[in-house]
Amino acid sequence: MIKKVSVNTLQKYKDNGEKFSMLTAYDYSTAKYFDEAGIDVLLVGDSLSMVILGYDSTTKVSMEEMTVFTKAVARGANRAFIVADLPFMSYHTSLESALTNAGSMIKNGANAVKIEGCSEHILNVVKRCTESGIPVMGHLGFTPQFLNTIGGYNIQGKSYDSTLAILEQAKKLEQAGAFSVVLEMVPEECARYISENLNIPTVSCGAGRYCTGQVLVSDDMLGKYSDFKPKFVRRYADMKSLILDAAKQYDFDVKNGKFPADDEVYTLPEDELKQLELHRGAKC
Ligand code: KIV
Repeated sequence: MIKKVSVNTLQKYKDNGEKFSMLTAYDYSTAKYFDEAGIDVLLVGDSLSMVILGYDSTTKVSMEEMTVFTKAVARGANRAFIVADLPFMSYHTSLESALTNAGSMIKNGANAVKIEGCSEHILNVVKRCTESGIPVMGHLGFTPQFLNTIGGYNIQGKSYDSTLAILEQAKKLEQAGAFSVVLEMVPEECARYISENLNIPTVSCGAGRYCTGQVLVSDDMLGKYSDFKPKFVRRYADMKSLILDAAKQYDFDVKNGKFPADDEVYTLPEDELKQLELHRGAKC
């Protein structure tokens, strides 16, 4: 029997000083392979807005679109804990709609939701979701849904004061009930200080080595998304080249009669074939 990863498993990693792995996943097969590989957390990230749907930021993806991908990932994973991003503006307008949308992600297969920021409203959302049985992962530092107010892909927490400010936000999220917090694009000393002063696990997304978890966008680490590569991404594969080479070879084979080959076609039984040969050329 496979033991499913839970919020308790992730907390144990933190308590025991161990690490957990997290990758984004958007489709059934990838979720299945990551699950089989032992990845602990699958994030249906709103990064899919850019890497899957080709929008120019994460703010464009809708609840409906996020739901389709969450369902697909849930069908593929048995062991991994599934976190679904709540998309931009799906949890900001009212507490009620935030709860409805968070609940909908759980009903569609997620085990938790992730939301960005730390305003009073966000803290209320975290509190109400947690009270309702919906685990919430926070997201601080660089928060892509705030791209237009931040003004660019800028590193956050670059000073003592801003490190303290992020720690204060993280503590508020923890108090509100968040089970974990992603720290994105902050110096590792900042992430280390924050992690050391929290009881819940932190997850580094370009925040260095001292968080309990590490997360990467899978299309970045697999070398599939190639529009840009942040400094903190390590490429573990070159899927762009694999896909390009395969597509070029296929194009060549089709155009030169090399695909399909004998063993890639269905054939008629011999007696049927004979009849067909006899009537070949005759009009039907
Ligand atoms: O949407 C996403 O993929 C994320 C990660 C970068 C943490 O939020």
